[in-house]
Amino acid sequence: MTEKIKINGGQLRVPNEPIIPFIEGDGIGKDITKPSQKVIDAAIKKAYGETKKIIWKEVLAGEKALKLTGNYLPEETIEAFKEHLIGIKGPLQTPVGEGIRSLNVALRQTLDLFVCLRPVRWFKGVPSPIRYPSLVDMHIFRENTEDIYAGIEFMAGEENTKKFRDFLINELGVSKIRFPESSSFGIKPISKEGSERLIRAALQYAVNRELPSVTIVHKGNIMKFTEGAFKNWGYDLAENEFAGKVFTWRQFEKIKADSGLMDAEKALNGAKKEGKVIVKDVITDAFLQESLLRPFEHSVIATMNLNGDYISDQLAAMVGGIGISPGANINYKNGYAIFEATHGTAPGIAGTGKANPSSLILSALMMLEYMGWDEVSELVYDAMEHTFAKRRVTSDLYALMDGATLLSTSEFADEVIKNIH
Ligand code: NAI
Repeated sequence: MTEKIKINGGQLRVPNEPIIPFIEGDGIGKDITKPSQKVIDAAIKKAYGETKKIIWKEVLAGEKALKLTGNYLPEETIEAFKEHLIGIKGPLQTPVGEGIRSLNVALRQTLDLFVCLRPVRWFKGVPSPIRYPSLVDMHIFRENTEDIYAGIEFMAGEENTKKFRDFLINELGVSKIRFPESSSFGIKPISKEGSERLIRAALQYAVNRELPSVTIVHKGNIMKFTEGAFKNWGYDLAENEFAGKVFTWRQFEKIKADSGLMDAEKALNGAKKEGKVIVKDVITDAFLQESLLRPFEHSVIATMNLNGDYISDQLAAMVGGIGISPGANINYKNGYAIFEATHGTAPGIAGTGKANPSSLILSALMMLEYMGWDEVSELVYDAMEHTFAKRRVTSDLYALMDGATLLSTSEFADEVIKNIH
């Protein structure tokens, strides 16, 4: 029977025929949505026969919504995501520098989807610029509601900007603005609550999945009270709320200072043996280098919004690019979750059949895992691995593979369906 997904005491209750709202998206969103749903429907049928299925319900956003309703993000769309808890979306176009705010940011903020989760894993056969892509298995937890993405900016020369500048200089005694007359300003709010809920989710994820480490990535050496505070709040939370389940580098440093390096290393090795999650921190620029050179040292990554944006694209490139990188925006408290391809609308290839639907398919698999339908995601992962290994791929990967066969968006989806066993 068709029903709504509900949440009770923090536990999701998923009926056999849940209604899932979806936004088709702009640009290649139109090209990848139907083929992706076809793959998911076929896999569900393979796994559960007629006992389970998804009832897809289209909701509007972006250009299509503007055309049909006169509004880029109609209230009914937000309401549908609230009513059904879980949904999925294609990419939405954001005008640069002027006009409407990013619809993606608006959705994340309105539903308070504070975690942007991006798992990064390599599929055998997919071309990679690094030597050992099989060692990449990372899970990015990017804070989704704060940081420079709060959108509090003042343009140079405008009246409010002058007021803001004068307040800084006259009231707060700020003397370090190099060119005060022609400066624009941006505000970077990072809160204790916002940092804690993100880091708590990352730690819980690592503990639940028995992953070896959580790395807090920050630029706290420069931004001491925002990114530096994020790191410190993270360590405090790990040591207080996850005592007995984690071992932190801060604890390592304390043992080292109190009783020497040997004891600290003994404690670290003991924690690893007991299966505790090792919590560490790395400065952002060092992380971008380390993740390329020693990806196996990092498992779960907890970071703020802007760092998370940069890191996501670099890690995606290491395993085949944004065409095969999934993502999810989740509020673990109220259960709201919107799954989405991490790439944009790719206007240059929209409508040509060149788009890779993998990113959206993999996002749908994350959604099924979130719903507890793991059997389906395992089937499709295997089928995709099989398809890549046979070098039957869309144009983005075809350009990088020797001896590959070029498939269109829908041919690739059909090939994956053929390989579901
Ligand atoms: P983009 O991700 O659309 O494109 C970057 C490059 O990747 C292009 O060469 C494109 O052809 C290629 N590409 C992207 N997805 C692909 C796929 N599935 N298969 C094959 N090739 C693919 O990024 P760009 O050009 O910066 O942004 C275009 C628009 O998308 C902008 O309006 C931007 O604001 C929006 N955008 C939306 C996002 C979302 O809805 N979550 C995320 C990122 C950008």
